[in-house]
Amino acid sequence: MNILVINGPNLNLLGLREPEIYGSETLEDLGNWLDEQSDADGHEITWFQSNHEGDLIDQIQTTITLFDGIILNPGAFTHYSYAIRDAISSVKTPTVEVHLSDINSREEFRKTSVIKDECISQISGLGKQGYLEALKTLINYI
Ligand code: DQA
Repeated sequence: MNILVINGPNLNLLGLREPEIYGSETLEDLGNWLDEQSDADGHEITWFQSNHEGDLIDQIQTTITLFDGIILNPGAFTHYSYAIRDAISSVKTPTVEVHLSDINSREEFRKTSVIKDECISQISGLGKQGYLEALKTLINYI
Protein backbone atom coordinates (compact mmCIF):
# COMPACT_ATOMS: atom_id res chain seq x y z
CA MET A 1 0.00 0.00 0.00
CA ASN A 2 1.02 3.58 -0.57
CA ILE A 3 0.43 5.57 2.60
CA LEU A 4 0.78 9.33 2.96
CA VAL A 5 1.59 10.64 6.43
CA ILE A 6 0.61 14.31 6.68
CA ASN A 7 1.70 16.49 9.59
CA GLY A 8 0.37 19.99 10.05
CA PRO A 9 1.60 23.22 11.62
CA ASN A 10 4.38 23.30 14.19
CA LEU A 11 5.03 19.56 13.96
CA ASN A 12 8.26 20.41 12.14
CA LEU A 13 9.42 21.61 15.58
CA LEU A 14 9.01 18.24 17.26
CA GLY A 15 11.92 17.60 19.59
CA LEU A 16 12.13 21.29 20.41
CA ARG A 17 8.48 22.13 20.87
CA GLU A 18 7.07 21.56 24.37
CA PRO A 19 8.95 18.25 24.87
CA GLU A 20 7.03 17.60 28.10
CA ILE A 21 3.92 17.24 25.90
CA TYR A 22 5.24 16.01 22.55
CA GLY A 23 8.43 14.18 23.54
CA SER A 24 12.05 14.76 22.58
CA GLU A 25 12.13 13.01 19.22
CA THR A 26 12.07 14.93 15.95
CA LEU A 27 9.64 14.34 13.09
CA GLU A 28 12.47 12.68 11.19
CA ASP A 29 13.12 10.32 14.15
CA LEU A 30 9.44 9.44 14.08
CA GLY A 31 9.51 8.69 10.36
CA ASN A 32 12.60 6.51 10.68
CA TRP A 33 11.09 4.66 13.62
CA LEU A 34 7.85 3.92 11.74
CA ASP A 35 9.79 2.65 8.71
CA GLU A 36 11.65 0.19 10.96
CA GLN A 37 8.47 -1.39 12.36
CA SER A 38 7.60 -4.80 10.92
CA ASP A 39 4.06 -3.62 10.16
CA ALA A 40 5.59 -1.17 7.66
CA ASP A 41 7.25 -3.98 5.67
CA GLY A 42 6.05 -4.07 2.08
CA HIS A 43 4.37 -0.67 2.30
CA GLU A 44 5.50 2.63 0.79
CA ILE A 45 5.23 5.36 3.42
CA THR A 46 5.65 8.98 2.31
CA TRP A 47 5.93 11.85 4.80
CA PHE A 48 4.78 15.42 4.29
CA GLN A 49 4.73 18.37 6.68
CA SER A 50 3.53 21.91 6.19
CA ASN A 51 2.58 24.88 8.32
CA HIS A 52 0.11 26.02 5.63
CA GLU A 53 -3.49 24.91 5.34
CA GLY A 54 -3.63 25.09 1.52
CA ASP A 55 -0.50 22.93 1.18
CA LEU A 56 -2.07 20.29 3.41
CA ILE A 57 -5.21 20.35 1.26
CA ASP A 58 -3.13 20.04 -1.93
CA GLN A 59 -1.45 16.95 -0.48
CA ILE A 60 -4.76 15.40 0.57
CA GLN A 61 -6.00 15.91 -3.01
CA THR A 62 -2.98 14.01 -4.42
CA THR A 63 -4.23 10.88 -2.69
CA ILE A 64 -7.04 10.47 -5.24
CA THR A 65 -4.59 8.93 -7.69
CA LEU A 66 -1.40 8.31 -5.74
CA PHE A 67 -2.19 6.89 -2.30
CA ASP A 68 -4.32 4.20 -0.66
CA GLY A 69 -4.57 5.78 2.77
CA ILE A 70 -3.72 8.82 4.86
CA ILE A 71 -2.34 9.14 8.38
CA LEU A 72 -3.17 12.72 9.32
CA ASN A 73 -2.04 14.84 12.23
CA PRO A 74 -3.50 18.23 11.32
CA GLY A 75 -2.06 19.96 14.42
CA ALA A 76 -4.18 22.91 15.52
CA PHE A 77 -6.14 22.79 12.22
CA THR A 78 -7.87 19.77 13.76
CA HIS A 79 -9.97 22.06 15.87
CA TYR A 80 -11.31 24.46 13.25
CA SER A 81 -10.38 23.68 9.63
CA TYR A 82 -13.55 22.85 7.74
CA ALA A 83 -11.46 23.13 4.57
CA ILE A 84 -9.32 20.16 5.63
CA ARG A 85 -12.45 18.28 6.65
CA ASP A 86 -13.94 18.94 3.19
CA ALA A 87 -10.72 17.80 1.50
CA ILE A 88 -10.90 14.42 3.28
CA SER A 89 -14.56 13.91 2.42
CA SER A 90 -13.92 14.98 -1.19
CA VAL A 91 -11.11 12.50 -1.92
CA LYS A 92 -12.67 9.63 0.03
CA THR A 93 -9.20 8.22 0.77
CA PRO A 94 -9.38 6.27 4.05
CA THR A 95 -7.88 8.57 6.69
CA VAL A 96 -6.84 8.01 10.28
CA GLU A 97 -6.55 11.08 12.50
CA VAL A 98 -3.59 10.95 14.88
CA HIS A 99 -2.46 13.14 17.78
CA LEU A 100 0.68 12.65 19.81
CA SER A 101 -0.90 14.16 22.91
CA ASP A 102 -4.28 13.29 24.42
CA ILE A 103 -6.41 16.09 23.00
CA ASN A 104 -9.27 15.16 25.34
CA SER A 105 -7.32 15.84 28.51
CA ARG A 106 -5.88 19.25 27.60
CA GLU A 107 -7.45 22.67 27.02
CA GLU A 108 -11.17 22.78 26.22
CA PHE A 109 -10.68 23.90 22.59
CA ARG A 110 -8.61 20.79 21.81
CA LYS A 111 -11.49 18.45 22.64
CA THR A 112 -13.23 19.41 19.40
CA SER A 113 -12.07 17.78 16.18
CA VAL A 114 -13.94 19.03 13.13
CA ILE A 115 -12.32 16.33 10.98
CA LYS A 116 -13.03 13.32 13.19
CA ASP A 117 -16.32 12.34 11.52
CA GLU A 118 -14.64 12.11 8.11
CA CYS A 119 -11.92 9.74 9.40
CA ILE A 120 -12.17 6.00 9.90
CA SER A 121 -10.71 6.44 13.37
CA GLN A 122 -9.08 8.91 15.75
CA ILE A 123 -6.00 7.96 17.79
CA SER A 124 -4.89 10.36 20.48
CA GLY A 125 -2.39 10.37 23.33
CA LEU A 126 -0.20 7.42 22.33
CA GLY A 127 2.80 9.46 21.20
CA LYS A 128 4.65 8.00 18.22
CA GLN A 129 2.93 4.65 18.84
CA GLY A 130 -0.22 6.35 17.57
CA TYR A 131 1.25 6.54 14.05
CA LEU A 132 1.92 2.79 14.13
CA GLU A 133 -1.61 2.11 15.37
CA ALA A 134 -2.90 4.29 12.52
CA LEU A 135 -0.87 2.28 9.99
CA LYS A 136 -2.26 -1.01 11.36
CA THR A 137 -5.78 0.43 11.24
CA LEU A 138 -5.35 1.40 7.58
CA ILE A 139 -3.85 -2.00 6.65
CA ASN A 140 -6.81 -3.79 8.26
CA TYR A 141 -9.33 -1.42 6.71
CA ILE A 142 -8.11 -1.39 3.11
C1 DQA B 1 -1.53 17.78 18.19
C2 DQA B 1 -2.57 18.34 19.15
C3 DQA B 1 -3.09 19.69 18.67
O1 DQA B 1 -4.06 20.20 19.59
C4 DQA B 1 -1.95 20.67 18.58
O2 DQA B 1 -2.41 21.90 18.08
C5 DQA B 1 -0.81 20.15 17.78
C6 DQA B 1 -0.41 18.77 17.95
C7 DQA B 1 -0.90 16.49 18.71
O3 DQA B 1 -0.25 15.79 17.93
O4 DQA B 1 -1.03 16.18 19.89
O5 DQA B 1 -0.17 20.89 17.04
O6 DQA B 1 -2.17 17.49 16.95
